[in-house]
Amino acid sequence: MVKFSAFGAFALISLASQALAQRTVKVMPFGASIVSKCWRANLQAKLKNDGIRNFDFVGSLGGNCGGNGVDQDHEGHSGSQATDYAKNGNLTVWLDRNPPDVVIMLLGTNDVLLGKKPVKDILAAYDVLLGQMRAKNARMQIIFSNLLPLDPARWPKEGVEGMKALNSAIATYAPKKSTVQSPVYFVDNYADFNAVTDTTDGEHPNDVGSEKMAKKFFGPTKNAIQVVGRSSRILKSKRTTGWARREVAAKAANGGA
Ligand SMILES: *[C@@H]1O[C@H](CO)[C@@H](O)[C@H](O)[C@H]1NC(C)=O
Repeated sequence: MVKFSAFGAFALISLASQALAQRTVKVMPFGASIVSKCWRANLQAKLKNDGIRNFDFVGSLGGNCGGNGVDQDHEGHSGSQATDYAKNGNLTVWLDRNPPDVVIMLLGTNDVLLGKKPVKDILAAYDVLLGQMRAKNARMQIIFSNLLPLDPARWPKEGVEGMKALNSAIATYAPKKSTVQSPVYFVDNYADFNAVTDTTDGEHPNDVGSEKMAKKFFGPTKNAIQVVGRSSRILKSKRTTGWARREVAAKAANGGA
């Protein structure tokens, strides 16, 4: 009798695990126009090719990236700046509307190019944005990209050099912000990216550039999706175990069932 109940509890736990292995993980691509480009489609294809299907890209904007079953949703707003987002609270609104488990962030190009903001102001804005993400979800998985290079033939020297300066600050900033509960995965999209041959206009990725970015984002995104899936599975099976234990105890008190 007891043996049978124990087996029942075990079966329940493994059923719960199987169901939760499929939990849909919400992924929000967040930033400016570079985020609106179609590296997101390439990334989704790579995840699916690797057997990862339990994700849903979220955001208030759509797109028209080609390919079968591309999830177009994102928060890549053209021309936007981290410093403006921090000041205006835009991200909080978007997080409330489509609460994500994972944020893929590439943001800051326009702070340098358009806003001509100093590096320290941009880092302070990142602090505000990471704080908003964690206030919404204490376990937020944050995939933090540095910035793509700019073509020096098409952009002013201050922009080209500004990108390098911000990237070198991000290289020390991002790892410092990582915590066990809410990891920051640094992604180096600057390295190996050719602003002349991998862009449409010296700034935004073309097909070759999009594929390079997807390759860089793939590992951390896969990892983040698996971490979210695993943690919810552990929480759920703890609950199931507690429930099963009470059930067994109740049956024993009733003289077995
Ligand atoms: C961010 O919020 C401000 C203030 O509400 C608004 O004016 C601005 O258009 C928003 N930016 C974006 C990209 O939605």
